Amino acid sequence: MAKRSIKSQKCGRDARVPSIQQILLKWFRANARDLPWRQGRTPYAVWVSEIMLQQTQVATVIPYFNRFMKRFPTVEKLARAKQDTVLKHWEGLGYYSRGRNLHKAAKLIVSDYGGQLPDTVEELKKIPGIGRYTTGAIASIAFNRPAPILDGNVIRVLCRLFCIDGNPKEDATKKQLWELADTLVHTQHPGDFNEAMMELGAMVCTPQNPQCPKCPLRNQCDAKKQGRQHELPVRQKQKALPHYTIVVGVVYKGDRILIDKRRQNALLGGLWEFPGGKKKSGESFKAAVAREVKEETGIEVTVGKRLCIVKHTYSHFKITLHAYLCEYKRGIAKPLACDAIKWVTPKDLKKYAFPAANLKIFPKIYNL
Ligand code: ADE
Repeated sequence: MAKRSIKSQKCGRDARVPSIQQILLKWFRANARDLPWRQGRTPYAVWVSEIMLQQTQVATVIPYFNRFMKRFPTVEKLARAKQDTVLKHWEGLGYYSRGRNLHKAAKLIVSDYGGQLPDTVEELKKIPGIGRYTTGAIASIAFNRPAPILDGNVIRVLCRLFCIDGNPKEDATKKQLWELADTLVHTQHPGDFNEAMMELGAMVCTPQNPQCPKCPLRNQCDAKKQGRQHELPVRQKQKALPHYTIVVGVVYKGDRILIDKRRQNALLGGLWEFPGGKKKSGESFKAAVAREVKEETGIEVTVGKRLCIVKHTYSHFKITLHAYLCEYKRGIAKPLACDAIKWVTPKDLKKYAFPAANLKIFPKIYNL
């Protein structure tokens, strides 16, 4: 028997590839949203936007992207900035390792690549924070290389278009999806094609209530033919997130408040916070505050009234945070279990980047 082409072995759907490509490119040219990173595109702007767009909705990213590009318009400006300034521009966007890596990568690009983002898949992969998805996005959108991309939107479009009912979180299905994305990507217009796939997923082929009557690929879609568009992609049952009880001290010494910088490699690394941590079972709230402040900064405090209780959900866990007003008693504050400490006025708190749950304490401090 004659050997089948690699592409047809991979998906057996080659005949549909050109029509899917043409229909999607035409649809995208008529329907693409006018997003800030689509204007006067530079590789740097593509890179920044694609990092911000990981796990984050377009509407959330827009104001962050605009502020970031105004403050750091070039890779050199970003490389020269302090990490604190970069993280302040990331505050509230979440997944802060993205901001830290972007900054680290900017320095590397200036020192080792003459300030130019590399334009090949092989080189892009070596840059901190640029994984398989971002490599494909930058290579295709900024440099017109026929590299595939696979994000949540593309996964949904592919699973429905080709009725893939494996779990996309599992390696075998993921491999199949990457191969499909690779087979489909348009060789002349890879960037537009990849963006078209993402745009279709965001605007039409949505997780709930997909707009099939409006879909340019409705006649090509296997899931639509079989009436399975609502059940694909298959979803894993969400595990309940772990919950932690956190205590923090808003420690005053005169008119200044003690803040500390989280360790670089910790979750939310590089952000500032009020000293605190997990309450142990059986421990009173006030004892836990005094212990955590001492462990983190070496000082002893008198724990006063509770300022507020904050509930917050992060990507991998939930917290209930109890913030207590504290007064400095004795000792010299040192960064014992953190990277730095500072005594700041309430007015200056806003200059530092804090995690979302800590930001919710600010109004209580301003109303004291
Ligand atoms: N999500 C990720 N990249 C995107 C892009 N370039 N345009 C719109 N949404 C996106």
